[in-house]
Amino acid sequence: MKRRPLIAGNWKMYKTKDDALAFIYAVNQEVPDKELVESVICAPAIFLRDLVKREGENVRIGAQNMHYAAEGAYTGEISAGMLKSYGVDYVVIGHSERRQYFGETDETVNLKLIAAVNQDITPIVCVGEPLEIREAGTTNTVVRKQIEKAYLNVTAQDALKTVVAYEPIWAIGTGVTATPEQANETIIEIRRVLEKLYGHDVADQVRILYGGSVNTKNVEALLATSDIDGALVGGASLDPNSFLTLVRAALNK
Ligand code: 13P
Repeated sequence: MKRRPLIAGNWKMYKTKDDALAFIYAVNQEVPDKELVESVICAPAIFLRDLVKREGENVRIGAQNMHYAAEGAYTGEISAGMLKSYGVDYVVIGHSERRQYFGETDETVNLKLIAAVNQDITPIVCVGEPLEIREAGTTNTVVRKQIEKAYLNVTAQDALKTVVAYEPIWAIGTGVTATPEQANETIIEIRRVLEKLYGHDVADQVRILYGGSVNTKNVEALLATSDIDGALVGGASLDPNSFLTLVRAALNK
């Protein structure tokens, strides 16, 4: 089964409106055909409307978070239905920064995954271990639990509509990338968990990205592995040329 590569930029809390618009104009005509590589920009919520309006044929826009409830008294929050009504196609869920600073848990990740899929938004479900766990040699156990909890009560049909991102916390924003072997090994383990939950065919189709200090220099080696289907990129997604280099590297996948 050939899985279509996906490069997703996660801008985090960077850029102003003008920067965001300049970026989308710069990349629109340049990114490869979406049938070959999917290019996604996950932007701060305030930019989403403008970016969706200006996205080209081959770039898709994602949010960085959402609430799991359909609606309600949740001041400051945004629902999946609201994102959908603006034409947002992806949403990052369970990013380690949200787990660390904003109280995201495996349980809310699960609820958000289900809410996103119900609105036909593709969740990019993030998992990953801190340095102590990597050093203790228990990465697989921790990541396995994160995946099992994220996919609780999720049907095989819905699991197919999701993307996983393996982002070891020690590699995020540190300049220390997991080696292609380390990243691929953990991603193979994630695929095994999905296989146990949903069978071989589903596990073989779900895209699993690597994230954590991906840049224009290391992307090719990461993508040359058997099971890494793309990248979730922070810092190196902020510059249009850098983002385009990453997306073009995925053409060789
Ligand atoms: P960096 O690429 O800046 O390490 O960030 C990775 C990340 O957290 C993407 O979601």
